Order: sequence, then structure tokens, then C-alpha cells
Amino acid sequence: MLPFIPRPDLDVIDLLLGEHGCLLSLFRHIEMRLPNLPLADVLSAGETLESLLMAHAVEEDQLLFNALPAEQTGVKEALAAMAGEHNEQRRMLEELREETEVVLARGRLLRLIELTREHFAVEERILFGLAKQVLDDERRSALGREFARRRGLSQAH
Ligand SMILES: [Fe+2]
Ligand SMILES: [Fe+2]
Repeated sequence: MLPFIPRPDLDVIDLLLGEHGCLLSLFRHIEMRLPNLPLADVLSAGETLESLLMAHAVEEDQLLFNALPAEQTGVKEALAAMAGEHNEQRRMLEELREETEVVLARGRLLRLIELTREHFAVEERILFGLAKQVLDDERRSALGREFARRRGLSQAH
């Protein structure tokens, strides 16, 4: 029989940071291969990014950003900026899907990656820091458990 191991807290901020880490390594992988990729592969890389990035943005908006106090000075503006960038990512991915020129498709994918790197950095610096201050451990764990349940992680059960 396995020894009893206490279940670690699932902090929603750590889980979202983990996804940033995975996405950043995927960005590096795509950037290295991109100069030699034919159009079909560029579009396929875009589709993979789309499914991961959009799932990340939905959980982030619905779980973390929704829980932040929009009435606090500066928070509303920061949340609006991040939501606007999620929409911009969505729009760029849609345009990429329609692209028929390989050089333009590569450029679109690179711009999306650049924008998203900056977006992650702002989230980590401003909103994740703020969330740590205003949401207590219990709330962050409850949100983390919901995040884990949505992703199908075994820790959620
Ligand atoms: Fe985001
Ligand atoms: Fe994020």
C-alpha cells in the first residue's frame, strides 16, 4: 500500500504560471523550426497554438481575472488591457488560418508569439502579483481545484 501523501494545495496562479512555462517552450520550438516550414506546417503550428492559448485565456478570464476586485484603482484598466489582448490573439489566429502565402503566414505567427510573450510578462508582473495580494490561500486553492477539474488533472478528484 502506498504511504499517505497529503494533497498539495493547488494555487491557481502557480497552475497558470506552469502553462506560461509550457507555452514559452513551445514558442521557442516553433521559432527555431519556422524558417524551414512549408505553409501547411505553419498553419498546423498555428492551430496547435490556438487550442492551447485559447484554453489558457478562457480559464484565466473566467477563474482568475473574474475574481479580482475591478473597483480597485488600476485593476479595471489592467483587466481591460489583458482581455483586449486575448481578443487580439484570437483575431491574429483567425487571420493566420486564412493566410495563403507562406512568408506572410510565418510573419503572422512570429508576431503572435511576440505579442503573447509580452502579454505573459505583464500578467506575471502585474495581475498575478495583485492576485496573490488580494486573494487568500483558500480562495486561490479553490480556484486552482476548479482549474484542475476543467483540465482533467487527477489532483482535482
Ligand atoms: Fe492571458
Ligand atoms: Fe496567461
